[in-house]
Amino acid sequence: MFFTSDNASGAAPEVMAALLQTNDGYTRGYGAEEQMARVTARLREVFEHPEAAVYLVATGTVANSLALALYAQPWSAIFAHADAHIAQDECGAPEFYTNGAKLISVAGAHGKMTPETLTAALNRVGNGGVHGVQRGALSITNVTEAGTVYTAAEVAALTALAREKGLPSHLDGARFANALVAAGATAAQMTWQAGVDVVSFGGTKNGCLGVEAVVIFDAKKAWEFELRRKRGGHLFSKHRFLAAQMEAYLQDDLWLRLAAQANAMGARLAQGLTANPDVTLRHPAPANMMFAEWAEGGHARLRAAGASYYDMPAPQGREAARLVTSFCTTPEDVDAFLAAF
Ligand SMILES: Cc1ncc(COP(=O)(O)O)c(C=O)c1O
Repeated sequence: MFFTSDNASGAAPEVMAALLQTNDGYTRGYGAEEQMARVTARLREVFEHPEAAVYLVATGTVANSLALALYAQPWSAIFAHADAHIAQDECGAPEFYTNGAKLISVAGAHGKMTPETLTAALNRVGNGGVHGVQRGALSITNVTEAGTVYTAAEVAALTALAREKGLPSHLDGARFANALVAAGATAAQMTWQAGVDVVSFGGTKNGCLGVEAVVIFDAKKAWEFELRRKRGGHLFSKHRFLAAQMEAYLQDDLWLRLAAQANAMGARLAQGLTANPDVTLRHPAPANMMFAEWAEGGHARLRAAGASYYDMPAPQGREAARLVTSFCTTPEDVDAFLAAF
Protein backbone atom coordinates (compact mmCIF):
# COMPACT_ATOMS: atom_id res chain seq x y z
CA MET A 1 0.00 0.00 0.00
CA PHE A 2 2.76 2.36 -1.05
CA PHE A 3 1.15 5.19 -2.95
CA THR A 4 3.53 8.08 -2.22
CA SER A 5 4.93 8.27 -5.74
CA ASP A 6 5.79 6.14 -8.72
CA ASN A 7 9.46 6.51 -7.77
CA ALA A 8 8.72 4.57 -4.58
CA SER A 9 8.90 1.45 -6.75
CA GLY A 10 12.11 -0.27 -7.68
CA ALA A 11 13.08 -0.90 -11.28
CA ALA A 12 11.45 -3.42 -13.60
CA PRO A 13 13.18 -6.83 -13.66
CA GLU A 14 13.85 -6.47 -17.40
CA VAL A 15 15.76 -3.25 -16.75
CA MET A 16 17.79 -4.78 -13.92
CA ALA A 17 18.59 -7.79 -16.09
CA ALA A 18 19.82 -5.49 -18.86
CA LEU A 19 22.09 -3.69 -16.41
CA LEU A 20 23.65 -6.95 -15.27
CA GLN A 21 24.10 -8.06 -18.83
CA THR A 22 25.76 -4.85 -19.91
CA ASN A 23 28.08 -5.04 -16.94
CA ASP A 24 30.11 -7.79 -18.62
CA GLY A 25 33.10 -6.82 -20.67
CA TYR A 26 34.25 -3.53 -22.13
CA THR A 27 32.63 -0.84 -24.23
CA ARG A 28 33.37 2.71 -25.23
CA GLY A 29 31.95 5.37 -22.94
CA TYR A 30 30.19 8.73 -23.09
CA GLY A 31 27.41 7.57 -25.41
CA ALA A 32 29.75 6.09 -28.01
CA GLU A 33 28.81 2.54 -26.94
CA GLU A 34 26.80 0.29 -29.25
CA GLN A 35 23.76 0.28 -26.99
CA MET A 36 23.29 4.02 -27.50
CA ALA A 37 23.15 3.68 -31.28
CA ARG A 38 20.38 1.12 -30.81
CA VAL A 39 18.51 3.38 -28.37
CA THR A 40 18.63 6.27 -30.82
CA ALA A 41 17.37 4.08 -33.65
CA ARG A 42 14.56 2.68 -31.49
CA LEU A 43 13.43 6.10 -30.22
CA ARG A 44 13.42 7.39 -33.79
CA GLU A 45 11.07 4.51 -34.61
CA VAL A 46 8.91 5.15 -31.55
CA PHE A 47 8.59 8.83 -32.45
CA GLU A 48 8.34 8.09 -36.20
CA HIS A 49 10.97 10.75 -36.77
CA PRO A 50 14.11 9.52 -38.55
CA GLU A 51 16.14 12.64 -37.76
CA ALA A 52 15.32 13.08 -34.07
CA ALA A 53 18.38 13.67 -31.90
CA VAL A 54 18.36 11.55 -28.74
CA TYR A 55 20.35 12.09 -25.54
CA LEU A 56 20.21 10.37 -22.17
CA VAL A 57 20.50 11.94 -18.75
CA ALA A 58 19.84 10.58 -15.29
CA THR A 59 17.16 12.91 -13.90
CA GLY A 60 13.98 14.55 -15.09
CA THR A 61 15.10 17.87 -13.69
CA VAL A 62 18.19 18.04 -15.88
CA ALA A 63 16.29 16.72 -18.90
CA ASN A 64 13.84 19.60 -18.56
CA SER A 65 16.48 22.18 -17.77
CA LEU A 66 18.82 21.30 -20.62
CA ALA A 67 15.91 21.03 -23.05
CA LEU A 68 14.68 24.49 -22.08
CA ALA A 69 18.20 25.93 -22.22
CA LEU A 70 18.31 24.93 -25.91
CA TYR A 71 15.38 27.21 -26.64
CA ALA A 72 15.36 29.97 -24.04
CA GLN A 73 17.76 32.89 -23.71
CA PRO A 74 18.72 34.37 -20.31
CA TRP A 75 16.21 37.17 -20.97
CA SER A 76 13.43 34.81 -22.06
CA ALA A 77 10.02 34.13 -20.53
CA ILE A 78 9.14 30.43 -20.31
CA PHE A 79 5.38 29.92 -20.10
CA ALA A 80 4.21 26.97 -17.99
CA HIS A 81 1.32 26.02 -15.74
CA ALA A 82 1.55 27.53 -12.27
CA ASP A 83 1.92 24.05 -10.75
CA ALA A 84 4.48 22.82 -13.29
CA HIS A 85 7.31 20.72 -11.91
CA ILE A 86 9.79 23.10 -13.56
CA ALA A 87 8.23 25.96 -11.58
CA GLN A 88 7.61 24.29 -8.23
CA ASP A 89 9.94 21.35 -7.77
CA GLU A 90 13.25 21.89 -9.53
CA CYS A 91 14.91 24.34 -7.16
CA GLY A 92 15.45 26.89 -9.91
CA ALA A 93 17.33 24.45 -12.16
CA PRO A 94 15.62 25.67 -15.36
CA GLU A 95 16.57 29.23 -14.43
CA PHE A 96 20.13 28.07 -13.64
CA TYR A 97 20.64 26.13 -16.87
CA THR A 98 19.13 28.90 -19.01
CA ASN A 99 21.25 31.50 -17.24
CA GLY A 100 18.25 33.25 -15.82
CA ALA A 101 15.17 32.80 -18.00
CA LYS A 102 12.01 33.75 -16.13
CA LEU A 103 9.18 31.26 -15.58
CA ILE A 104 5.75 32.75 -16.19
CA SER A 105 2.80 31.08 -14.45
CA VAL A 106 -0.15 30.18 -16.62
CA ALA A 107 -3.46 29.47 -14.88
CA GLY A 108 -5.81 26.59 -15.58
CA ALA A 109 -8.09 24.19 -13.69
CA HIS A 110 -6.95 20.62 -13.04
CA GLY A 111 -3.30 21.36 -13.78
CA LYS A 112 -3.95 22.20 -17.42
CA MET A 113 -3.36 25.39 -19.36
CA THR A 114 -6.13 26.27 -21.78
CA PRO A 115 -5.94 28.30 -24.99
CA GLU A 116 -7.61 31.15 -23.09
CA THR A 117 -5.24 31.16 -20.11
CA LEU A 118 -2.19 30.76 -22.32
CA THR A 119 -3.33 33.58 -24.60
CA ALA A 120 -3.80 35.82 -21.58
CA ALA A 121 -0.27 35.07 -20.36
CA LEU A 122 1.26 35.48 -23.82
CA ASN A 123 -0.44 38.85 -24.18
CA ARG A 124 0.53 39.97 -20.68
CA VAL A 125 4.25 39.24 -20.90
CA GLY A 126 6.82 40.33 -23.44
CA ASN A 127 5.43 43.72 -24.40
CA GLY A 128 7.80 45.82 -22.31
CA GLY A 129 10.48 46.34 -24.93
CA VAL A 130 13.96 46.33 -23.48
CA HIS A 131 12.58 46.65 -19.95
CA GLY A 132 10.84 43.28 -19.80
CA VAL A 133 11.68 39.67 -20.48
CA GLN A 134 11.05 38.51 -24.03
CA ARG A 135 8.73 35.64 -24.90
CA GLY A 136 10.95 32.54 -25.13
CA ALA A 137 9.29 29.12 -24.94
CA LEU A 138 6.26 27.15 -23.83
CA SER A 139 6.54 24.12 -21.53
CA ILE A 140 3.67 21.63 -21.17
CA THR A 141 3.62 18.73 -18.70
CA ASN A 142 1.86 15.46 -19.61
CA VAL A 143 0.73 13.70 -17.32
CA THR A 144 0.14 16.99 -15.47
CA GLU A 145 1.01 17.61 -11.85
CA ALA A 146 -2.72 17.24 -11.06
CA GLY A 147 -2.78 13.76 -12.60
CA THR A 148 -4.77 14.90 -15.61
CA VAL A 149 -3.82 14.31 -19.23
CA TYR A 150 -3.76 16.58 -22.26
CA THR A 151 -5.00 15.00 -25.48
CA ALA A 152 -2.78 15.41 -28.52
CA ALA A 153 -5.30 17.93 -29.88
CA GLU A 154 -5.07 19.97 -26.69
CA VAL A 155 -1.27 19.99 -26.92
CA ALA A 156 -1.52 21.07 -30.56
CA ALA A 157 -3.86 23.94 -29.67
CA LEU A 158 -1.38 25.27 -27.09
CA THR A 159 1.72 24.92 -29.26
CA ALA A 160 -0.10 26.66 -32.13
CA LEU A 161 -0.66 29.70 -29.93
CA ALA A 162 2.99 29.67 -28.90
CA ARG A 163 4.11 29.33 -32.51
CA GLU A 164 1.99 32.34 -33.52
CA LYS A 165 4.30 34.33 -31.25
CA GLY A 166 7.36 32.56 -32.64
CA LEU A 167 7.85 30.33 -29.61
CA PRO A 168 9.05 26.72 -29.56
CA SER A 169 7.43 24.18 -27.23
CA HIS A 170 8.84 21.70 -24.71
CA LEU A 171 6.98 18.75 -23.28
CA ASP A 172 7.84 17.48 -19.79
CA GLY A 173 7.08 13.79 -20.18
CA ALA A 174 8.29 12.45 -16.85
CA ARG A 175 5.12 10.32 -17.13
CA PHE A 176 4.96 10.35 -20.93
CA ALA A 177 4.07 6.65 -21.22
CA ASN A 178 1.19 7.03 -18.77
CA ALA A 179 -0.08 10.02 -20.78
CA LEU A 180 0.06 8.13 -24.07
CA VAL A 181 -1.76 5.12 -22.64
CA ALA A 182 -4.43 7.35 -21.10
CA ALA A 183 -4.87 9.49 -24.21
CA GLY A 184 -4.68 6.61 -26.67
CA ALA A 185 -2.17 8.58 -28.73
CA THR A 186 1.12 7.67 -30.39
CA ALA A 187 4.39 9.31 -29.39
CA ALA A 188 4.45 11.19 -32.70
CA GLN A 189 0.87 12.43 -32.37
CA MET A 190 1.54 13.73 -28.85
CA THR A 191 4.76 15.53 -29.78
CA TRP A 192 6.14 16.76 -33.10
CA GLN A 193 2.87 16.23 -34.95
CA ALA A 194 1.28 18.39 -32.24
CA GLY A 195 3.92 21.10 -32.58
CA VAL A 196 6.31 20.02 -29.80
CA ASP A 197 9.99 20.73 -30.47
CA VAL A 198 11.67 18.87 -27.63
CA VAL A 199 10.51 16.18 -25.19
CA SER A 200 11.76 14.98 -21.84
CA PHE A 201 10.89 11.30 -22.27
CA GLY A 202 10.66 9.80 -18.79
CA GLY A 203 11.96 6.39 -17.80
CA THR A 204 12.67 6.56 -14.09
CA LYS A 205 9.10 6.79 -12.82
CA ASN A 206 7.95 3.94 -15.02
CA GLY A 207 10.41 1.13 -14.37
CA CYS A 208 13.93 2.39 -15.01
CA LEU A 209 16.57 2.82 -12.35
CA GLY A 210 17.39 6.38 -13.40
CA VAL A 211 17.31 7.48 -17.02
CA GLU A 212 15.40 9.98 -19.13
CA ALA A 213 15.78 10.67 -22.84
CA VAL A 214 15.77 14.14 -24.33
CA VAL A 215 14.34 13.86 -27.84
CA ILE A 216 14.95 16.88 -30.06
CA PHE A 217 13.11 17.07 -33.39
CA ASP A 218 15.39 19.70 -34.92
CA ALA A 219 18.67 17.91 -35.61
CA LYS A 220 20.44 21.28 -35.95
CA LYS A 221 20.13 21.63 -32.17
CA ALA A 222 21.94 18.37 -31.46
CA TRP A 223 25.51 19.60 -31.08
CA GLU A 224 24.49 22.45 -28.82
CA PHE A 225 22.67 19.98 -26.61
CA GLU A 226 25.77 17.81 -26.39
CA LEU A 227 27.86 20.77 -25.34
CA ARG A 228 25.33 21.90 -22.77
CA ARG A 229 24.99 18.41 -21.29
CA LYS A 230 28.75 18.04 -20.92
CA ARG A 231 29.24 21.54 -19.57
CA GLY A 232 26.39 20.99 -17.13
CA GLY A 233 28.11 17.88 -15.79
CA HIS A 234 25.55 15.39 -17.06
CA LEU A 235 27.46 13.42 -19.68
CA PHE A 236 27.89 10.03 -18.03
CA SER A 237 31.24 8.35 -18.38
CA LYS A 238 29.92 4.76 -18.08
CA HIS A 239 27.04 5.80 -20.28
CA ARG A 240 26.25 2.20 -21.22
CA PHE A 241 24.36 1.89 -17.93
CA LEU A 242 21.96 4.62 -19.02
CA ALA A 243 21.66 3.21 -22.53
CA ALA A 244 21.07 -0.36 -21.32
CA GLN A 245 18.18 0.79 -19.15
CA MET A 246 16.56 2.70 -21.98
CA GLU A 247 17.08 -0.13 -24.42
CA ALA A 248 15.35 -2.61 -22.12
CA TYR A 249 12.60 -0.09 -21.40
CA LEU A 250 11.81 0.24 -25.10
CA GLN A 251 12.18 -3.44 -25.97
CA ASP A 252 8.89 -5.14 -26.89
CA ASP A 253 7.00 -2.02 -25.74
CA LEU A 254 7.85 -2.67 -22.10
CA TRP A 255 7.43 1.07 -21.42
CA LEU A 256 3.82 1.00 -22.62
CA ARG A 257 3.02 -2.25 -20.81
CA LEU A 258 4.34 -0.89 -17.52
CA ALA A 259 2.36 2.33 -17.93
CA ALA A 260 -0.78 0.37 -18.76
CA GLN A 261 -0.38 -1.55 -15.50
CA ALA A 262 0.13 1.67 -13.49
CA ASN A 263 -2.88 3.30 -15.14
CA ALA A 264 -5.08 0.23 -14.66
CA MET A 265 -4.23 0.24 -10.96
CA GLY A 266 -4.96 3.97 -10.85
CA ALA A 267 -8.37 3.33 -12.39
CA ARG A 268 -9.07 0.52 -9.91
CA LEU A 269 -8.16 2.78 -7.00
CA ALA A 270 -10.16 5.73 -8.29
CA GLN A 271 -13.18 3.54 -8.95
CA GLY A 272 -13.00 1.88 -5.54
CA LEU A 273 -12.66 5.17 -3.71
CA THR A 274 -15.40 7.00 -5.55
CA ALA A 275 -17.78 4.10 -4.97
CA ASN A 276 -17.83 5.55 -1.46
CA PRO A 277 -20.13 8.60 -1.50
CA ASP A 278 -17.88 10.30 1.06
CA VAL A 279 -14.94 10.46 -1.34
CA THR A 280 -14.40 13.05 -4.03
CA LEU A 281 -11.58 13.29 -6.53
CA ARG A 282 -10.33 16.83 -6.99
CA HIS A 283 -9.37 16.24 -10.59
CA PRO A 284 -10.19 13.67 -13.25
CA ALA A 285 -7.72 10.78 -12.85
CA PRO A 286 -7.21 9.08 -16.22
CA ALA A 287 -3.63 7.94 -15.52
CA ASN A 288 -1.82 6.88 -12.34
CA MET A 289 -2.15 9.83 -9.97
CA MET A 290 -5.15 11.07 -8.04
CA PHE A 291 -6.02 13.63 -5.43
CA ALA A 292 -8.75 12.27 -3.15
CA GLU A 293 -10.66 14.03 -0.42
CA TRP A 294 -12.66 12.35 2.36
CA ALA A 295 -14.05 12.96 5.86
CA GLU A 296 -11.75 13.07 8.89
CA GLY A 297 -10.71 9.64 10.10
CA GLY A 298 -9.57 8.18 6.80
CA HIS A 299 -5.89 8.97 7.42
CA ALA A 300 -5.94 7.24 10.82
CA ARG A 301 -7.53 4.07 9.45
CA LEU A 302 -5.20 3.91 6.48
CA ARG A 303 -2.04 4.66 8.44
CA ALA A 304 -2.96 2.07 11.07
CA ALA A 305 -3.19 -0.45 8.27
CA GLY A 306 0.26 0.57 6.99
CA ALA A 307 -0.66 2.65 3.93
CA SER A 308 1.77 5.34 2.71
CA TYR A 309 0.91 8.42 0.66
CA TYR A 310 1.24 12.20 0.88
CA ASP A 311 -1.32 14.19 2.85
CA MET A 312 -2.66 17.25 1.07
CA PRO A 313 -4.17 20.38 2.65
CA ALA A 314 -7.92 20.03 3.13
CA PRO A 315 -10.78 22.16 4.46
CA GLN A 316 -11.97 21.82 8.08
CA GLY A 317 -13.46 18.40 8.76
CA ARG A 318 -12.00 16.88 5.61
CA GLU A 319 -8.75 15.16 4.74
CA ALA A 320 -6.99 14.86 1.42
CA ALA A 321 -4.34 12.65 -0.11
CA ARG A 322 -2.20 12.37 -3.21
CA LEU A 323 -2.16 8.74 -4.35
CA VAL A 324 0.14 7.46 -7.08
CA THR A 325 0.19 3.94 -8.50
CA SER A 326 3.13 2.48 -10.37
CA PHE A 327 4.01 -0.34 -12.76
CA CYS A 328 4.43 -2.67 -9.81
CA THR A 329 1.24 -1.80 -7.93
CA THR A 330 -0.91 -4.94 -7.74
CA PRO A 331 -4.69 -5.35 -7.52
CA GLU A 332 -4.07 -6.79 -4.02
CA ASP A 333 -2.33 -3.54 -2.95
CA VAL A 334 -5.27 -1.50 -4.18
CA ASP A 335 -7.89 -3.75 -2.67
CA ALA A 336 -6.11 -3.80 0.71
CA PHE A 337 -6.07 0.00 0.67
CA LEU A 338 -9.76 0.18 -0.16
CA ALA A 339 -10.60 -2.34 2.55
CA ALA A 340 -8.60 -0.40 5.15
CA PHE A 341 -10.28 2.81 4.09
C1 LIG B 1 6.23 16.15 -13.90
C2 LIG B 1 7.63 15.89 -13.46
N1 LIG B 1 8.65 16.37 -14.18
C3 LIG B 1 9.91 16.15 -13.85
C4 LIG B 1 10.24 15.44 -12.72
C5 LIG B 1 11.70 15.38 -12.39
O1 LIG B 1 12.24 14.24 -12.00
P1 LIG B 1 13.58 14.07 -11.15
O2 LIG B 1 13.15 13.95 -9.74
O3 LIG B 1 14.14 12.82 -11.75
O4 LIG B 1 14.49 15.22 -11.38
C6 LIG B 1 9.22 14.91 -11.92
C7 LIG B 1 9.52 14.15 -10.69
O5 LIG B 1 8.79 14.13 -9.74
C8 LIG B 1 7.87 15.15 -12.31
O6 LIG B 1 6.85 14.70 -11.56
